[in-house]
Amino acid sequence: MDFSLPHSFCFFLLLLLPFSTDGQTYRNITLGSSLTAANDNSSWTSPSGDFAFGFQQIGDDGFLLAIWFNKIPERTIVWSANRNDLVQRGSRVQLTTDGQLVLDDQSGTQIWSTINSGGIAASYAAMLDTGNFVLASQSAANLWQSFEEPTDTMLPTQTLSQGRELIAPYLEKNYSDGRYMFALQPDGNLSLYTTRYPSTVSNFAYWSTQSSIARNGTVINTVFSIQVSMQGFYQRATLDYDGVFRHYVYPKTAASSSRNGDMAWTTSSFVPSNICTAIQGQVGSGACGYNSVCRLGEDQRPRCECPPGYTFVDPNDLRKGCKTNFVSQDCDQPSQGTDGFELEVMPNANWPFNDYEFFGSVSEDWCRQACLSDCYCAVVIFNPAGQCWKKRIPLSNGMIDPDTYGTKALIKVRKGNSTAGSCAKKNDRSTLIITGSVLLGNSVFLNVISLLGIYVFFSRMNRQKAKMILPHNVLPDVNLVSFTYNELETATGGFKEELGSGASGIVYKGLLDNEDTPLVAVKKLYKMIREGEQEFRTEVKVIGRTNHKNLVQLLGFCEEGQQRLLVYEYMSNGSLSNYLFGDSRPNWYQRMQIACGVARGLLYLHEECSSQIIHCDIKPQNILLDDSLNARISDFGLAKLLKTDQTKTITAIRGTKGYVAPEWFKKLPVTTKVDIYSFGILLLELVCCRKKFELDAMEEDQIVLADWAYDCFKEEKLDLLVLEDEEAMEDMRRVESFVMIAIWCIQEDPSLRPGMKKVLQMLEEAVQVPIPPDPASFISSI
Ligand SMILES: *[C@@H]1O[C@H](CO)[C@@H](O)[C@H](O)[C@H]1NC(C)=O
Ligand SMILES: *[C@@H]1O[C@H](CO)[C@@H](O)[C@H](O)[C@H]1NC(C)=O
Ligand SMILES: *[C@@H]1O[C@H](CO)[C@@H](O)[C@H](O)[C@H]1NC(C)=O
Ligand SMILES: *[C@@H]1O[C@H](CO)[C@@H](O)[C@H](O)[C@H]1NC(C)=O
Ligand SMILES: *[C@@H]1O[C@H](CO)[C@@H](O)[C@H](O)[C@H]1NC(C)=O
Ligand SMILES: *[C@@H]1O[C@H](CO)[C@@H](O)[C@H](O)[C@H]1NC(C)=O
Repeated sequence: MDFSLPHSFCFFLLLLLPFSTDGQTYRNITLGSSLTAANDNSSWTSPSGDFAFGFQQIGDDGFLLAIWFNKIPERTIVWSANRNDLVQRGSRVQLTTDGQLVLDDQSGTQIWSTINSGGIAASYAAMLDTGNFVLASQSAANLWQSFEEPTDTMLPTQTLSQGRELIAPYLEKNYSDGRYMFALQPDGNLSLYTTRYPSTVSNFAYWSTQSSIARNGTVINTVFSIQVSMQGFYQRATLDYDGVFRHYVYPKTAASSSRNGDMAWTTSSFVPSNICTAIQGQVGSGACGYNSVCRLGEDQRPRCECPPGYTFVDPNDLRKGCKTNFVSQDCDQPSQGTDGFELEVMPNANWPFNDYEFFGSVSEDWCRQACLSDCYCAVVIFNPAGQCWKKRIPLSNGMIDPDTYGTKALIKVRKGNSTAGSCAKKNDRSTLIITGSVLLGNSVFLNVISLLGIYVFFSRMNRQKAKMILPHNVLPDVNLVSFTYNELETATGGFKEELGSGASGIVYKGLLDNEDTPLVAVKKLYKMIREGEQEFRTEVKVIGRTNHKNLVQLLGFCEEGQQRLLVYEYMSNGSLSNYLFGDSRPNWYQRMQIACGVARGLLYLHEECSSQIIHCDIKPQNILLDDSLNARISDFGLAKLLKTDQTKTITAIRGTKGYVAPEWFKKLPVTTKVDIYSFGILLLELVCCRKKFELDAMEEDQIVLADWAYDCFKEEKLDLLVLEDEEAMEDMRRVESFVMIAIWCIQEDPSLRPGMKKVLQMLEEAVQVPIPPDPASFISSI
């Protein structure tokens, strides 16, 4: 019984209205007509065919009863009845015999219906060429119209009545009610609001026409002050999911031409001009959710980003904000101290409404310390005027505001557990052990790792023991073994396997009778210019006293007659030269880590070890890589042994042309700044993954890397330096800052080059990199 009525009714309709589902042009839709949600795209079209009314399938989620641009391949939806309640196949919309438009789902439950004004029954319905769908009375008066119940889009002749509003869709292809609203204020201004999502109650206005509009003016004309004739264009104004109200146009000729597949709607204008900075509410999260920042892209569309150390809560819905990917500081555990945290720089970022403390006239170091030592502090904003604002989580209204030059956010992150790719400081051994034991037992893999760790620990102990029982002389103060020539000859199999050779000597692979570090590199020095025994011992002691994770450790030495040999740790991954200029390009982050490692090693040699060591020969051949691809500087401390008078003549130069600072050629004193110069060249090679000279370069101006890099920097075409390097291309900000640092390092004037400490701070983004001058501007003055 229940089934027979609708069934026969349908049959009756089919007989009566055989055209009701085949999408041909209607002027009047008669009572009793209906459409069914299916894959046949059935619709009621306007006389010109520009607009259609019917069901649109939304992915696999169901159907939307909608009005759309029917001649545009994209089928752009301008209105819908059930955006929060998609219906399934077999659902039906009907102009009932009692003059109402009703949407029923496949089981017959009513989902939506029109409420005709005055409760009057309509005589017919029509899809008009304006995009308005109307229910009309016998006398052609509109009883209901889609223009009166807009969703997110206004069409050229459409006005907005008091009390009506547009609600943005949730996402680009999710038409549910979203987070923004457009409405007429009681004072007559048209305004954009954030909503208290998931409700559609307005929160606060972030844009307004600032003037009372003529009530009969259409929204498009009022908001976008369209002057030119738009006859040839389809137009719409849509409140998009990102909160921007955009006026779009689409040439009608393109819609009918055969090449229309290439076309898309073009934004002709939009408000507000920068949504990221426009949303300034005391409540709510801002344009991108909590703990995020909003950045206006080059295409003028907003993008959501997470600060360093944070990741998106939901990668499919970036506007849900960001969360820390480290364990936050626990105020109940003051003993955790401040050591476990560091600050990552995020230039121009700000969260204007989350201050809880402010300081004026302070230094950056003071500001940093103030945040590190405060367990509530998540971020400090510091500006060059010495102002410092502490902020706490959740951070709201985050934005990148390029107009606040020099202001930067310092984001507190846990050391060794951040996503920041650049010079993130290496794990402390202690945190490694803690992490290791916390994770222990979670997986076989981790168990293997921890077993390896235990092995390493015990073998370290063994090594120390082995050293103590070695029957050799050990130099006082330093832990260096004195080998006999015979021992080293045996260890190297008669100096058979050559690992490399350089300005100072030839390096051989050796095997010691020592269980734990059997492999060594034995360097046989060329005949030395200074031969005194005391001299050699002095220098060896200086080298032996150094101890840094970015230096190759000297283990022992040999001096017998004319022979002078040095015994070093063996570096399994060879030299940076082979790694960098080999067949496959090394990973961008690995290269950045190497740059930072070399910088730390040099800083130690220049400023931190007991007697300053100028390397004088920094180049990729002298940077070795250990098992974990850590950069290790080799060959340091030999300069004094091998050179007579460093300031004298070109012929005495040990450096390899190209890495050699210009002062070698001039009568200027040689200082640590020569290493800075060489480091600058090395840094460019690391960024670009190519050698300092490439004679077969495609273009003449690319032969000398340093010159080419400066040209690219000056012309703002840095992407040319890292073409085909996708990882670097996605990190252009860092490419730029590394190139700028390199240009500072290769200044012809040594006094303009920064010291190693400054270089490292810039690499670590602890200080901002100023715009460097032309490196050659100094030449003429000498
Ligand atoms: C539509 O129907 C109304 C009322 O029946 C009638 O007055 C009008 O002429 C019709 N319009 C067209 C274009 O058929
Ligand atoms: C319905 O329209 C979609 C595009 O909107 C098209 O891919 C599909 O082939 C159409 N189906 C039919 C039966 O015409
Ligand atoms: C659209 O997003 C809302 C909010 O996240 C969600 O509840 C809804 O299921 C989504 N709709 C579709 C069709 O994915
Ligand atoms: C509305 O427009 C008036 C000018 O007519 C302006 O003074 C007022 O600030 C506007 N109101 C809002 C909330 O923008
Ligand atoms: C314009 O608006 C006024 C006041 O709301 C109204 O009286 C008038 O009829 C409208 N004019 C037109 C052409 O719609
Ligand atoms: C940081 O540590 C937390 C908790 O141990 C972990 O969930 C997260 O994945 C870690 N993040 C990174 C980048 O290692």
